[in-house]
Amino acid sequence: MSLGGVYVLPIFDSKPQPKEINLENCLGKTVLVIGGGGREHAIVDALSRSPQVSKIYCAPGNAGIGEQAFNVPLKDTDVEGLKAFALEHGVDLTVVGPEASLAAGIVDAFRAAGLKIFGHTKAATAIESSKEFAKKLMLKYGIPTASYRSFDNYDEALAYVAGRPFPAVIKYDGLAAGKGVVIAADLEEARKALADMLLDEAFGKGKVVIEDYLTGPEFSFLCFVDGERVYPMPLSQDHKRAFDGDKGPNTGGMGAYTGLPFISPGDRDFALREIMCKAASAMVAEGYPLSGVLYGGLMKTPQGIKVIEFNARFGDPETEVVLPLLESDIFDIFDAVATGVPAKELRWTEGVTLGVVLASKGYPGKYDKGCPIGGLDAIGGRVYHMGTAFKDGNLVTSGGRVLMVVSGGKDLADAREMVYAEVAKVRCDNLFYRKDIAHCAFEK
Ligand code: AMP
Ligand code: GLY
Repeated sequence: MSLGGVYVLPIFDSKPQPKEINLENCLGKTVLVIGGGGREHAIVDALSRSPQVSKIYCAPGNAGIGEQAFNVPLKDTDVEGLKAFALEHGVDLTVVGPEASLAAGIVDAFRAAGLKIFGHTKAATAIESSKEFAKKLMLKYGIPTASYRSFDNYDEALAYVAGRPFPAVIKYDGLAAGKGVVIAADLEEARKALADMLLDEAFGKGKVVIEDYLTGPEFSFLCFVDGERVYPMPLSQDHKRAFDGDKGPNTGGMGAYTGLPFISPGDRDFALREIMCKAASAMVAEGYPLSGVLYGGLMKTPQGIKVIEFNARFGDPETEVVLPLLESDIFDIFDAVATGVPAKELRWTEGVTLGVVLASKGYPGKYDKGCPIGGLDAIGGRVYHMGTAFKDGNLVTSGGRVLMVVSGGKDLADAREMVYAEVAKVRCDNLFYRKDIAHCAFEK
């Protein structure tokens, strides 16, 4: 679709509209989305385009989500509260965003109460929550990944690391809110990481996985999975470091894009067949069928594509660039996976998306909250709220990552030009963003 010489993807052509309650809509479905970040805003946004959905609740939601859904002040791990809410409010389908809700057993509890829910059982969530479980699964079923050993004894782990080349990759065996992986450059760094993970009560005194250090570009492969059925989404790439040139500390993700220049159709087919489909079948064979999103954090190494990690949920900020490309009705796929029946084939818009995260100055370290935000009404692309709130009627920052602006285009140069023009319209004194999202597409 072309507007004034600028290519605009169909769904970027119109502003998101709140659902109108008309007679036809009243017969539609009520959906509850769990979570309150940019990922959940993108899920709510996609659901709001469904003609079958008449009412969307989001728990806890955020200020931006509140324009497209009814926010519900319940924590994403308050399984009993969420279950009572869904039962009381006639929720037809619940869609889970965060891994913490899955690990808290929300899917098991909802199913036991006869509620339909999109997400994995607590047992199946082990593919993300336990590094050792995921590694054993990959080894057993021949899914390509770095070779590894696991330890729960500090001295043995240290001796093992000391006898191997550096950098050493040390992973905590459990959910660690993104802080569980240390790439230790030397023995001293390894010693500290192992002491934190194996000797320190604060971390949980768990187990560690120590694996080979791999090199190559990383990318994310998100698939809807229902048992053996795998429905792939477009590939995307996150930017984890805080500053341009992939410098600075690791963050939750500072931007993402689709249309990866370094992945061939053959690479994608390999990743789908040998990694994502194999993992889905392996989980069925092990007695833990998946019923939500499987996220492959993959790396294109000189020896081929390998798994860095699996997640049991949509990625953030990948979801914000992937879901705007979905032309099919997202309710159908959520409903089919939650019910365990085959879904219609998914249609995706041609073209690419590029999204830039605006974060509070100081993030991922200390930062201020409550800074006023303006200018969003003038933005032409999609604006997903990651950490915003209303204070005295004004929109303010309320988190580290605050907003994500996403534009579509026929290619990445197009999308990049558009997105940075839109980002410049955001008025807030306390935000920063990376200027080089999708840089590897432009490097000679
Ligand atoms: P994870 O939480 O497992 O995705 O790891 C976080 C980050 O650490 C990844 O995105 C990679 O950049 C890096 N990483 C993890 N495992 C390896 C590995 N085996 N080799 C090189 N880098 C790794
Ligand atoms: N973008 C990284 C993640 O969602 O884990």
